[in-house]
Amino acid sequence: MAFVNQNYCNLKESYLFSQIAHKVAEFTAAHPEKKIIKMGIGDVTLPLAPAVIEAMQKAVAEMGVKETFRGYGPEQGYDFLHQAIAKYYASFGVEVASDEIFISDGAKSDCGNMTDIFSNDNVILIPDPVYPVYLDTNVMCGRKIIYMQGKPENDFLPMPDDSVKADIIYLCSPNNPTGAVYTKEQLEKWVAYALKNDAVILYDAAYEAFVSDPSIPRSIFAVEGAKKCAIELCSLSKTAGFTGTRCGYTIVPHDLVRKTKDGQEMSLNKMWLRRQTTKFNGVPYIIQRGAEAVFSEEGQKQCREMLAFYKENARIMAEALTKKGIKFYGGTHSPYIWLECPNGMGSWEFFDYLLEKLAVVGTPGAGFGSMGEGYFRLTAFGSRENTIEAMERIEKGL
Ligand code: MLT
Repeated sequence: MAFVNQNYCNLKESYLFSQIAHKVAEFTAAHPEKKIIKMGIGDVTLPLAPAVIEAMQKAVAEMGVKETFRGYGPEQGYDFLHQAIAKYYASFGVEVASDEIFISDGAKSDCGNMTDIFSNDNVILIPDPVYPVYLDTNVMCGRKIIYMQGKPENDFLPMPDDSVKADIIYLCSPNNPTGAVYTKEQLEKWVAYALKNDAVILYDAAYEAFVSDPSIPRSIFAVEGAKKCAIELCSLSKTAGFTGTRCGYTIVPHDLVRKTKDGQEMSLNKMWLRRQTTKFNGVPYIIQRGAEAVFSEEGQKQCREMLAFYKENARIMAEALTKKGIKFYGGTHSPYIWLECPNGMGSWEFFDYLLEKLAVVGTPGAGFGSMGEGYFRLTAFGSRENTIEAMERIEKGL
């Protein structure tokens, strides 16, 4: 008899964003006349940068010619892309070696797959509220999970507590869902905690490109000692509009070494390479050429324009919420605005209210954890027209 993974019984019925999509589909079917404005899942709306399209078109043409056609590529990605990423990191003062960079189809996949190289006996420390993938992928493995609370008193930036013993720590900065950002001093404290406890930090930097203050780290590796205790996951989804194109990367430093339960020292870089070469066949050449173009001078200029567009949306949203006297966080170094639900409403209650009365979709804070109850997330990834219209509806209708 084939038994299934019992840990799945401990998951919520469905993944947060599927649950929201389902509710929105039901509402649309019942009210086809209503124009729904979606500010829920952080999906981009601007098209890919011209430099990316040009590079992909060139790669498509290469694939049609015998001499330049490519079959299987290196599972961990082509070196041209490793080098482009290493140069990008160097531009904000962080040195990473080409063979510490692994190309993938996005940070979400790497986040889930990363559970493969760690023992299920580890104690996992995750923030609450949190991007649900960190939680669900560890629930699937049956691991012990402990939480650290994000709340207004700590600006939604939980800090290490020496009385708590954790083996794997998930951090995300700029944060999804709250938009909060760790300073260098705060990350230094996390690195010190991880080094002291032989723990590993899984650092999600998917929103690093939204950081505009040079004193705020865009990578955990800006902190001394982090290469001995951290893995960084990053994605081109938000930086370059790759949500549908799919490309991300993970940096596993050579200095990161931990032991098996029987005391054998292992290089995590080698383990990840072993995992990827066995279970993954790499990102398509055409996509990797498009990704390489993101890091070119032209690509960077065009992507920065996109980010500036989304940031202006966030400014418009912040202005409207301020006018309404609604308290919020984020929106400066982040595409997310995390607001307190007005009139003491619960997160899902506010979700229903916005959908049914104003036809605006957001994400209920409670979907990111119990500390998110009473909060709500809006994204700045919409079109300008929709962002303005949604905020007008909120201004008038609340
Ligand atoms: C979100 O809305 O939290 C993100 O878009 C989800 C993701 O990046 O997978």
